[in-house]
Amino acid sequence: MNMTPYEQVLKALPASPKTWLVTGVAGFIGSNLLEALLKLDQRVVGLDNFATGYQHNLDEVQSLVTPAQWDNFQFIQGDIRQLEDCQLACAGVDFVLHQAALGSVPRSLADPITTNSANITGFLNMLVAARDAQVKSFTYAASSSTYGDHPALPKVEDNIGKPLSPYAVTKYVNELYADVFSKCYGFHTIGLRYFNVFGPRQNPNGAYAAVIPKWVSSLLKGETVFINGDGETSRDFSFIQNAIQANLLAATSRDEARNQVYNMAVGDRTTLKQLFALVRDNLGPFGVSASTEPEYRDFRAGDVRHSLADTSKAQRLLGYEPTHRIAEGIQSATRWYVDHQNLLQ
Ligand SMILES: NC(=O)c1ccc[n+]([C@@H]2O[C@H](COP(=O)([O-])OP(=O)(O)OC[C@H]3O[C@@H](n4cnc5c(N)ncnc54)[C@H](O)[C@@H]3O)[C@@H](O)[C@H]2O)c1
Repeated sequence: MNMTPYEQVLKALPASPKTWLVTGVAGFIGSNLLEALLKLDQRVVGLDNFATGYQHNLDEVQSLVTPAQWDNFQFIQGDIRQLEDCQLACAGVDFVLHQAALGSVPRSLADPITTNSANITGFLNMLVAARDAQVKSFTYAASSSTYGDHPALPKVEDNIGKPLSPYAVTKYVNELYADVFSKCYGFHTIGLRYFNVFGPRQNPNGAYAAVIPKWVSSLLKGETVFINGDGETSRDFSFIQNAIQANLLAATSRDEARNQVYNMAVGDRTTLKQLFALVRDNLGPFGVSASTEPEYRDFRAGDVRHSLADTSKAQRLLGYEPTHRIAEGIQSATRWYVDHQNLLQ
């Protein structure tokens, strides 16, 4: 039987280990990339300043890989706003997976200067350091927020609107810089516009927690879940395993697949009302009543009303085929939070 492009990558990498730099390695997506790469016997350098990442995420990865695989990991506590830290991290690296940034639209509205420095200055430092280290490719976390006020659904890569938040500005500037580095320096960049990624190790705590971990946490603690708006706001939620696949395919891609941006999602639209029911019902066995209802409150500033990805470009050029749809992802993620209730504040 023919192997998928991803299966081919999964087979090829252990036979010929490479050195990867994962920035933001102590965060949600970064620590999951670390786990996947170490399990494929790759060498990984990780860079993080623990702004929103945690040592316990790294500790958990250590518990999930063999001691020999863990020995292939080198952690650098550093800040992408410092060029020297980026240069140190890029030395001898084949592939960069740049995840470090300050996420969250509300955080960027409250403090646009700090978001700008991590997401734009830090991004530019990483581009310069990776270019000078002559890495093979630079894959970076872009964002669906770049679609801004463009009304079309589903979202197709070339049709973007105006950004609706400082965060969205920073992620769009990332794409502009990456494109200019491709054109001016022949540097290979690939942007993955993530659409609401979720899964184990996504932070459930704090004012800027993402919707799924925040709701799981509230339900497990018996607290009220709030929905911003009327519940009909929709998103294309993607389980972390799809994001890992997209990163590995993007980093190892060739020719016309490079120097592009891609939607990274599933292509399924879920309203917040539907999401609430899914999360609540998955927590039924853990004491959450099927009659639990959310409370509705005002729409949130800077939020896009609907978001749904057209993933055909990633399918065509990267060979991306999402393996996990929302229902099985939610089952796996809720199980993880149930098993890690000690992390819920
Ligand atoms: N999770 C999503 O749904 C989603 C959607 C769109 C885009 N993204 C992007 O994906 C990337 C990863 O997001 P995540 O959900 O894993 O968030 P996260 O907050 O869990 O991870 C980000 C990591 O970057 C680190 N970091 C932040 N500033 C840094 C700095 N100046 N120097 C070094 N490290 C720094 C943090 O400490 C953290 O470990 C981000 O670029 C984010 O903007 C995520």
